[in-house]
Amino acid sequence: MENNKTFTMIKPDAVRNGHIGAILNHITKGGFKITAMKYTYLTPEKAGEFYAVHKERPFYKDLVGFMSSGPIVAAILEKGNAVADFRTLIGATDPSKADEGTVRKLYAESIEANAVHGSDSDENAAIEGSFFFSAFEKF
Ligand code: PPS
Repeated sequence: MENNKTFTMIKPDAVRNGHIGAILNHITKGGFKITAMKYTYLTPEKAGEFYAVHKERPFYKDLVGFMSSGPIVAAILEKGNAVADFRTLIGATDPSKADEGTVRKLYAESIEANAVHGSDSDENAAIEGSFFFSAFEKF
């Protein structure tokens, strides 16, 4: 399993609030290379599928509703130790617990509207990347 790729989404709150440029800048300054990217939208069905692993959690319905509430930016990122380093760059899921200078501390509103997604394992990074991008769209 390669450990040099991760998958991210800039979530609807950050897109709505005009943070796409700043977040992409933060990501590239952090040493990540963008190897695939698209401005797109998750239907409720697609959001439900993407977050199916959280189906039994109390916030699942809200999360699916939120993630389908507006456009997102999906991207595959490349860097050594990508998954762990990206999660450090974005900070804790709950922005009130995120370290200073992290993407979520700077741009997130709440644990739900938390600006960005980052894969939690190499295996999920590959699955999530393939959810959005065909082989021809990945470099
Ligand atoms: S993580 O990153 O998987 O360890 O975080 P986790 O706490 O398991 O949360 C998984 C995703 O669910 C979102 N989340 C919530 N949404 C709405 N309401 C509440 N209370 C809530 N808690 C967690 C959280 O933003 C995670 O989304 P992703 O896209 O995976 O970062």
